[in-house]
Amino acid sequence: MYINQSNLCNGKYIVNYNSKNNIRNNTSYNKPESLANDISKVSAENYKANYMISFKGQMNYHKSDSSEIGTLNNQTAFFREPETDEVVQNYILEKFGDDREINIVSGACSTGEEAKSYAMMLDKLSDKLNIMGFDINSECIEKAQNNNCQLIKNEDNSSLSFINLNSEDILLTDNIEDLTEYEKRCRNKFGQYYHPQGIPYKVPVFPNAKQELEKLEATLANKEEFEKQKNQYNEQMRITKNLMPELADFSLPFEEVMDNLKHTLEQQANAYRLVEDFAAGELAFGNCTFSVGDVMNLGQMYKPNSINVLLYRNALYHTLCKGDNMFRFMKDDAPEIMDSIAKQINKILKPEGLVVFGEEEFMQGINSSIIKKAMENNGFKLLQTNINNTNNNIWVKTENI
Ligand SMILES: C[S@@+](CC[C@H](N)C(=O)[O-])C[C@H]1O[C@@H](n2cnc3c(N)ncnc32)[C@H](O)[C@@H]1O
Repeated sequence: MYINQSNLCNGKYIVNYNSKNNIRNNTSYNKPESLANDISKVSAENYKANYMISFKGQMNYHKSDSSEIGTLNNQTAFFREPETDEVVQNYILEKFGDDREINIVSGACSTGEEAKSYAMMLDKLSDKLNIMGFDINSECIEKAQNNNCQLIKNEDNSSLSFINLNSEDILLTDNIEDLTEYEKRCRNKFGQYYHPQGIPYKVPVFPNAKQELEKLEATLANKEEFEKQKNQYNEQMRITKNLMPELADFSLPFEEVMDNLKHTLEQQANAYRLVEDFAAGELAFGNCTFSVGDVMNLGQMYKPNSINVLLYRNALYHTLCKGDNMFRFMKDDAPEIMDSIAKQINKILKPEGLVVFGEEEFMQGINSSIIKKAMENNGFKLLQTNINNTNNNIWVKTENI
């Protein structure tokens, strides 16, 4: 099928730091010259819209100048991995709660939601807690320094099929009783720190779908143009089938493709989200600082033996993998790169300090055994082997190397 993605997430809010702009920016790719282009455009829009609802934080892509890095994916969220966070925050309180100073690094912090989530959840540590975010993307760091955010809710009345995502539940669900005690506390903290600004407003999920639909209908009504496009499509199909005969079974007649496209555009034109703006006071996150930095220079960024916890979640793939958002694979020298990162982490961490990776790093094309080997070779042990968490992502520093 040409148009095959389900689009929305039922009755959920998502938080999106800069969503109004993002929604607008998302319309600007792929200027359509033909219906065939329109089809790929609809697919691309579905892809991006799906991605947007997969995360309740920042939705942004940034083309890096470095060919090594490719397109940076800056998605993040408040309270993104609550199971891990609960363990890590309890560990901090138990192990370091009486220390004079507690330093947490939020590595690859994107727009700062993780750092601010930790600041909210550990606010009883008040003055002795420092949270230092760094990210390679300077635009994200600028946004992290601003304490506004948005909640976005998909409207229930759309006939599109929805993706359901647990990570959104904490701030967005109406069924608060379904949340764990920890998740309820996260939600309450958000309510203490962030205050609604004005009333929620509606934004289209696919801002240009209406216009595209009108254009499509005009083309379908114009016999001459229709025939021209049909011939172009058939010619493209003929070339494609010659190159890849296995695709022959999947190709549809032009009329059917147009019907599908029209149906999808009609649904998209009626899909809306409700956006609510929030702001936290300027002084709310005074213990969070954000700066530009590269994980490969960790050893130069922080003093030896100075950090209690380094969070480096959902970002290793940018450094260990080649490829782009659609498909990634490990670089040949990934083991050496990971070894260098692990050595530097060992240097900056205090004894019994923690390193936290994402719960599902392997989803991004990373071979988890490379992380495991580098950590074990450089003075770390798993804090716990959690059967629900296949990636075993929390490491404790057990020796200086
Ligand atoms: C998907 S986001 C993850 C954000 C956050 N850690 C989380 O889990 O929600 C990945 C982030 O890694 C950052 N990044 C990529 N390569 C980096 C590097 N070498 N050093 C620091 N940050 C990097 C990107 O700019 C992006 O903001």
